[in-house]
Amino acid sequence: MAAKSIAVAITGASGAVYATRTLAALLSSGVGVQLVVSDYGRRLLRDELGEGANLDRLVPFLSAKYGPDVTRAPLAIYSNRDLGAPIASGSHDCGGMVIVPCSMKTLAGVAHGLSRSLVERAADVMLKERRPLIIVPRETPMSLPQLKNMVLCAEAGAVMLPAMPAFYQLPKTLDDLADFMAGKILGALGIEHALYPPWTGQV
Ligand SMILES: Cc1cc2nc3c(=O)[nH]c(=O)nc-3n(C[C@H](O)[C@H](O)[C@H](O)COP(=O)(O)O)c2cc1C
Repeated sequence: MAAKSIAVAITGASGAVYATRTLAALLSSGVGVQLVVSDYGRRLLRDELGEGANLDRLVPFLSAKYGPDVTRAPLAIYSNRDLGAPIASGSHDCGGMVIVPCSMKTLAGVAHGLSRSLVERAADVMLKERRPLIIVPRETPMSLPQLKNMVLCAEAGAVMLPAMPAFYQLPKTLDDLADFMAGKILGALGIEHALYPPWTGQV
């Protein structure tokens, strides 16, 4: 993919480490990121990864955990209330978007085109402009409305990429599981990565 930036949204579903791994992988690949985090996304970052993952300390956190290459590309952070941010408009040349992790609330908002927040509006822009939108939902079990909302998003053109890491790579750590999910996300965006080895036909 050309060096267009990618919008990343973090919402209040469990799995903040999937988000930080994805952010680090994009930035380390030289892809600029336009980040928006919902209120509960901020809470889950702190609850699951510690105070160090607070938004105002995010770059040092990423650098300490994933290495200094995370400074290879710019990271812009917008308020979820800022419906005037660049990614709220189809005229802004953003190459795609990933919502990781995606709560069932945000999934519902995207499925029904509500655009109540910057996360929902930017996702709506991706769908109307026919640009890649990768949604990483996390909930279990799922209700029928939640399942139907996933179908609506898929029908509108989004890639539904549930937070379901595989075990055939024989993961040893939580970070191995996060690598797998981030690799799937970069793959869906058409960005090369070495986050997990390709399947060779044998465990
Ligand atoms: C600790 C915690 C874990 C949560 N985990 C999930 C989850 O895995 N999936 C989900 O859909 N909602 C989860 N929620 C609920 C959402 O955070 C809640 O519905 C929130 O309103 C989502 O708003 P947002 O989409 O704007 O972030 C969780 C909430 C908390 C406090």
